[in-house]
Amino acid sequence: MAKSNDQLSAPNNIGKGLITGVVNWFNDRAPGAGIAYKKHMSEYFAPKNFNIWYYFGSLALLVLVNQIVTGIFLTMHFKTDAAQAFASVEYIMRDVEWGWLIRYMHSTGASLFFIVVYLHMWRGLMYGSYQKPRELVWVLGMVIYLVLMAEAFMGYVLPWGQMSFWGAKVIISLFGAIPVIGNGLTEWIMGDYLPSDATLNRFFALHVIALPLVLLLLVVLHLGALHEVGSNNPDGVDVKYGPKGNRWSADAPKDSIPFHPYYTVKDMVGVGFFLMLAAFIIFFEPTVGGLFLEHDNFTEANRLVTPAHIKPTWYFTPYYAMLRVVPDKLGGVMVMFGAIVLLFLVPWLDRAKVRSIRYRGMLAKVMFGLLAFSFLWLGKIGSGPGTDITETYIGRVLTFFYFMFFITMPIWTKLDRTKPVPERVTMHD
Ligand code: HEM
Repeated sequence: MAKSNDQLSAPNNIGKGLITGVVNWFNDRAPGAGIAYKKHMSEYFAPKNFNIWYYFGSLALLVLVNQIVTGIFLTMHFKTDAAQAFASVEYIMRDVEWGWLIRYMHSTGASLFFIVVYLHMWRGLMYGSYQKPRELVWVLGMVIYLVLMAEAFMGYVLPWGQMSFWGAKVIISLFGAIPVIGNGLTEWIMGDYLPSDATLNRFFALHVIALPLVLLLLVVLHLGALHEVGSNNPDGVDVKYGPKGNRWSADAPKDSIPFHPYYTVKDMVGVGFFLMLAAFIIFFEPTVGGLFLEHDNFTEANRLVTPAHIKPTWYFTPYYAMLRVVPDKLGGVMVMFGAIVLLFLVPWLDRAKVRSIRYRGMLAKVMFGLLAFSFLWLGKIGSGPGTDITETYIGRVLTFFYFMFFITMPIWTKLDRTKPVPERVTMHD
């Protein structure tokens, strides 16, 4: 006998009824969760003109989760002991089931994290997303960037390879340049006169629990701050409110759409491409020719043998180049930290009336271009041996450009002949 329509859809109805029941049960007991879901997802109205540059925020979240999950599994087999750490990583790679995959997901994830975060920051700079009222979003982002650098640095020390040891020695010794307290501070950080078991143990504690907690908290604050003021967009113009709202809500901005499902679905496209790239690297070229994992780090740390070229992983090399091209140690350290401090100040250095690069004039475009060019070339110089004198001079000129971008920003953003800005957001790329 043929089933009626009601009978055919009955299991579906039971499913729906069950879901509604569970949702209602939670809503009765934790009404705040539903409110938060609405505020940050289904009723978080984002401008409708996001382009691919807007993938990188959600991708950064994805990599953060990857680092935490793979990190938990690595911790199960890693030995926090200078005598055993290197061998325990080899054990993970050779004997632990799927250990090689977990380790490469974590090491590749670290580099991908920086690629994603650098592109995310560049998007912010291009579209003026740091300008009023999003200064706090930017500053919290910069604090995340600092903590992320500390997290990556400490993680790199843990496998206790040659570059872990010597990298830690060079970077921690930089604190020695500080007058009066420098040497005591270096010793205090290392817990010894050289990187040692004490250093490894404290870095493990910070890398595995302290900094990830801080990072998670900062990401929550970063998104909280963003959702208070709303997202910027590639045009850098505010979404307009009209008398009728939009088709989802009477009091939402006209040119905006709910984050969920529209941007959650759009972000899945970015996630798909990103996972393909990540899988390709993890399965075929996990060291990326010594860029993601340096060859010297496949040799155990030896305090009696210095590697030919001590250099940090690629994401630190622009700053490392700045450190090296300045002849004086304290001067180099100050330039290196100054380069990061200036990034914090961008919201107050930019005096332009427009936000997005789309409506800035030639002067601003040239300055932004020079900034990217200097940063990338400095990165190349920082990854080299540092012995070529011509390169040192080029590095000085590039460092000068980098600093000039920020120091003269109040001037060139004022002088720049900006273009008329549209009334409402546009849909072309
Ligand atoms: C763990 C690292 C980070 C995570 C997980 C993260 C996450 C996000 C997410 C999900 C968004 C909203 C979606 C989007 O606009 O792409 C966002 C927006 C933003 N982030 Fe981040 N972020 C991180 C680091 C940073 C850093 C280092 C900066 C800059 C210093 C930064 C600056 C911004 C700005 C300015 C916005 C607003 C963009 C706009 O509305 O146009 N973020 N972030």
